[in-house]
Amino acid sequence: MNGKMRLRNKVAVITGAGSVGPGWGNGKATAVVFAREGASIFAVDLVPEAVAETQGIISSEGGTCRTYHCDVTNSTEVAAMIEACVAQFGCIDILVNNVGGSVPGNAVDLNLEDWQHQLDFNLTSSFIACKYVIPHMESQGKGAIVNISSIAGHRHIGNDHVGYNAAKAGLAHYSRAVAVKYAPHGIRCNVISPGLMHTPLVEVRLAEQYGKGDAEALIEKRNKQVPMGHMGEGWDVAYAALYLASDEAKYVTGTDLVVDGGLIASAH
Ligand SMILES: NC(=O)c1ccc[n+]([C@@H]2O[C@H](COP(=O)([O-])OP(=O)(O)OC[C@H]3O[C@@H](n4cnc5c(N)ncnc54)[C@H](O)[C@@H]3O)[C@@H](O)[C@H]2O)c1
Repeated sequence: MNGKMRLRNKVAVITGAGSVGPGWGNGKATAVVFAREGASIFAVDLVPEAVAETQGIISSEGGTCRTYHCDVTNSTEVAAMIEACVAQFGCIDILVNNVGGSVPGNAVDLNLEDWQHQLDFNLTSSFIACKYVIPHMESQGKGAIVNISSIAGHRHIGNDHVGYNAAKAGLAHYSRAVAVKYAPHGIRCNVISPGLMHTPLVEVRLAEQYGKGDAEALIEKRNKQVPMGHMGEGWDVAYAALYLASDEAKYVTGTDLVVDGGLIASAH
């Protein structure tokens, strides 16, 4: 192990550490980047094959990764998952709550079931994981939580998905409340708000949801929306998470790091 590794000797729980399709999702890229920087990864996902692929990549590079299958919206399963990580590695230094995603719908046509699902998927999932991880971090006297939100929690970005908007905005403010409460205990809690990212999600789900099945047209449209002229990628989120999770960010808590190629800074 290289002494200069930024996460040397740290244990990181990363939820949604697989990808919904070929390529690099935010969680998968984060798991690989963290492992390259010396962290032991506890990679959590609903889909065993997805997270097994992430584990395979990390192992092939000489890193350490254990996998765990659970639904992060299920409190009982998450409590067991956290205990399994502590049993495996003895502590939890970093928690990245990455699971989430959008369902289309405006204030009238989104049905109540989908609204509730959006809150569970994007907000309650992080609440549950924090609920069980924070006591461990408190007893350790240190810990870093990174919650993956979205610029959709900041402003309307061209799609009607009010459940997602509300849940991601809620996640950001929930994170500030956690940051303040646990700052005296050495626990930092920060948010990343990715913009339009070209993760496998674009081809696998968004093309159908927002692009009438035409992935190429959706990709072109998303690229054009961004001042930099192109979408970001999972690695951009991963390196932002690396900074926030590392001791280099020891004085950073309660912040929301926007990773969007200038999109929300622009007027349209
Ligand atoms: N892709 C984008 O353009 C974009 C933009 C802004 C924010 N985000 C946010 O980034 C995060 C990750 O996005 P992504 O595109 O990398 O994800 P993704 O859709 O590729 O999913 C990552 C993994 O999460 C797993 N997963 C799904 N539901 C789960 C559950 N209930 N329990 C456990 N695991 C589950 C999937 O199996 C998958 O392997 C989400 O919170 C998303 O809202 C994405």
